[in-house]
Amino acid sequence: MEIMELLQTKRTYRRFDQSRPIPRQVVDDMMEAARLASCAGNKQPLRYLAVCSEELVEQIFPFTYWAAALTDAVGRPKEGSHPVMYWAVLCDRDAKDFGLGVDAGLAMDNIIAAAWYHGVGSCMMGNINRDKIREILSVDPSLEILYMIAFGYPAHRSTVVDPDAAGSLNYYMDEDENFYVPKRKASDFIEIK
Ligand SMILES: Cc1cc2nc3c(=O)[nH]c(=O)nc-3n(C[C@H](O)[C@H](O)[C@H](O)COP(=O)(O)O)c2cc1C
Repeated sequence: MEIMELLQTKRTYRRFDQSRPIPRQVVDDMMEAARLASCAGNKQPLRYLAVCSEELVEQIFPFTYWAAALTDAVGRPKEGSHPVMYWAVLCDRDAKDFGLGVDAGLAMDNIIAAAWYHGVGSCMMGNINRDKIREILSVDPSLEILYMIAFGYPAHRSTVVDPDAAGSLNYYMDEDENFYVPKRKASDFIEIK
């Protein structure tokens, strides 16, 4: 996949083929992508839990909240289209905040890009019940859950579109549950001097 095609299509996906597990070779590439991510001062403060067990994935699912712009009731994947893997992005509780948010963003995008290269879609998730997920995964008390990422082979399309006449940036779905994601034109917010 060419880099610009990857960036065009590497969207958020919220319905998956729940019958299709993610091969170990793809998980290995995602692990390598996490390892290679740039981070402030090369401190490498992040830890991960790659949750592949079907039982744990299903236990976590109710504590992840989907598509705030559409409401969770509409955005939440239905039975048969749940994710098949989660990654928990963790850091030490006493990690200094120096660049931590940027580190997490860069690492998550690396992991998501490696997955998407193999056709595995994802949804980065900040709207989660951290206490419940911590309990389910028995996360060490010294670690904090920053984000979860849901993964699976997509069961819908997601297309970048221009904002409507009113300039709304709200993403929306059609009757087949394909997503449309308005993005502003680059020339509207990037100035070249
Ligand atoms: C930090 C962050 C947290 C997010 N949290 C959630 C979430 O909890 N639930 C969800 O459905 N989507 C979540 N998203 C996905 C965004 O809604 C999505 O990136 C946005 O609508 C743009 O769509 P795109 O990723 O296809 O460009 C999150 C994205 C980011 C970057």
